[in-house]
Amino acid sequence: MLEKIKETALFLKERMNTSPETAIILGTGLGRLVDEITEKYEIQYEDIPNFPISTVEGHSGKLIFGKLGNKDIMAMQGRFHYYEGYSMQECTFPVRVMKELGIKTLFVSNASGGTNANFEIGDLMIITDHINYFPEHPLRGKNLYGDRFPDMSEAYSKELITKAKEIAKEKGIKVQEGVYLGTQGPTFETPAEYKMFGIWGADAVGMSTVPEVIVANHCKIKVFGMSIITDLGVEGKIVEVSHEEVQKAANEVQPFMTAIMRELINRA
Ligand code: HPA
Repeated sequence: MLEKIKETALFLKERMNTSPETAIILGTGLGRLVDEITEKYEIQYEDIPNFPISTVEGHSGKLIFGKLGNKDIMAMQGRFHYYEGYSMQECTFPVRVMKELGIKTLFVSNASGGTNANFEIGDLMIITDHINYFPEHPLRGKNLYGDRFPDMSEAYSKELITKAKEIAKEKGIKVQEGVYLGTQGPTFETPAEYKMFGIWGADAVGMSTVPEVIVANHCKIKVFGMSIITDLGVEGKIVEVSHEEVQKAANEVQPFMTAIMRELINRA
């Protein structure tokens, strides 16, 4: 796999005319951030050697390079979800390539179901920590580089969390903070599962992010993540959820998430 990572990074380096140290995984809520990238150039996933190909509707797959404010950035439009059938190695391959390209900080977003009774639909949650409930670990197997037993005591950068809270306050945007639990999906949770995750210490549950964040930590890439609470897994407030409703709830608060991320990336 190390050979593949190096081959992919080399392919990209030969086509890159910037040297970004910041990467963004454009998950739910950050789709419109692409409109703000200037001096843009793009590479389709299908043209990149060894890259998995994104399949989910509404997630076109490409890497976008350019500037966001004053920063050179690299953005992933379309991520690889475990529920799509990719292996953990495939889901996290782009993050390993990022490391090879010199990325130092990774920004991620997602949608999730709130298990915290104080949350409301449409809340933005700064991810302070996570619980890995995926059935397979992305670092299982031969240790390619770095620590065999990586530390995860600050999986999400405290410094970036503090800055994000300052920015939200300045802009008058309400933000929650909490623990994101990553599960394989593709089912949403049963009421009993939401309850269990809440008891375990999760404030929100979703189907992404955790694998990428684990690999980023292994690579010593700093992480900041935010989640949009698109539905509630709270007793008495649980209603039927659909992908469309998740998208709709996310679209409504997308401008606020984008505003915080844009400013944080500039200041980071
Ligand atoms: N559960 C899991 N993933 C999700 C949810 C949820 O309730 N909402 C959005 N993504």
